[in-house]
Amino acid sequence: MRVLVTGAAGMLGQAVMPALAAAGHAALGLDLPELDVTRLEPFQGAVQGFRPDWVFHLAALTKVDDCEVRRDEAFLVNGLGARHAALAAAEAGAALLALSTDYVFDGTATSPYRESDAANPQSVYGASKWAGEQAVREVHPRHVIVRSSWMFGPGVVNFVDTILARARAGERLRVVDDQRGSPTFTRDLAQGLLRLVNAGVCGTYHCTNSGDCTWYDLAAHAVARAGLGVPLERTDTVSFPRPAKRPAYSVLGNTSFEQVTGWRMPGWRDAVERHLAATAGGTGRNP
Ligand SMILES: NC(=O)c1ccc[n+]([C@@H]2O[C@H](COP(=O)([O-])OP(=O)(O)OC[C@H]3O[C@@H](n4cnc5c(N)ncnc54)[C@H](OP(=O)(O)O)[C@@H]3O)[C@@H](O)[C@H]2O)c1
Repeated sequence: MRVLVTGAAGMLGQAVMPALAAAGHAALGLDLPELDVTRLEPFQGAVQGFRPDWVFHLAALTKVDDCEVRRDEAFLVNGLGARHAALAAAEAGAALLALSTDYVFDGTATSPYRESDAANPQSVYGASKWAGEQAVREVHPRHVIVRSSWMFGPGVVNFVDTILARARAGERLRVVDDQRGSPTFTRDLAQGLLRLVNAGVCGTYHCTNSGDCTWYDLAAHAVARAGLGVPLERTDTVSFPRPAKRPAYSVLGNTSFEQVTGWRMPGWRDAVERHLAATAGGTGRNP
């Protein structure tokens, strides 16, 4: 398989590129500045030049709070960029796999979201990613949209590494305990993406590590497994205001993913431990 990957230098891209290579696929990874997904013609040129079987569209503006103040840019990159990916892939005869997010949901559910549940994004980031999803559905029938959540992995600063760095620095750690979701290790998600492609399906799928927790639970597990005896304090969303509204509950149900791939994503606790091993205990020294 030939795969062109956008956003290849990002956190997920850094897991997807080696996973594609290990599976024997020919992958071309592109990112800013050589590929700007908001510019259609060069994007079309890159896809036509490589003649991929698949375009994996990972590029996005992912800083959720920044998106609140960079609204136009968020819609340009996350909405229009996804439309461009769909157009470029469709024209070149390639299928499209596009990443999306739990933030398309409003967080009022009390059981895991299904793919068919109504989207109701509460943040600019969520709304811009939802616009991207809709563009993909509109433009390119041969698509797989994968919604994931709460990612961590080597290579890019993420929640787990930030907590561990603060614990090591002896900072007071107060962590939100009233938002629930499913942490996802980028290396596991990369395997999940390949399994979806191999399953030969089209449509929307949720794919996260199995199980769910609060940010506090995630932080506590990481700190404990890193061997740091630092006490953590629970806080709540009201006491920790952020520019972007976060869903209180954004657990994504993996049932459809499991049905079509025949595979269950590993549990999030085990995933945190493998992340710590991959990053020498979350020090940022990635082997
Ligand atoms: N991280 C999460 O928790 C999470 C959860 C659910 C879904 N997702 C989705 O998963 C995908 C990958 O996320 P990630 O965490 O790997 O994000 P990331 O680390 O921010 O990587 C995204 C990459 O896209 C690049 N990019 C930004 N604007 C671009 C443009 N105009 N043209 C081309 N590339 C551009 C970024 O470059 P710069 O760094 O220079 O901006 C970055 O290298 C995204 O679609 C995201 O929405 C992420």
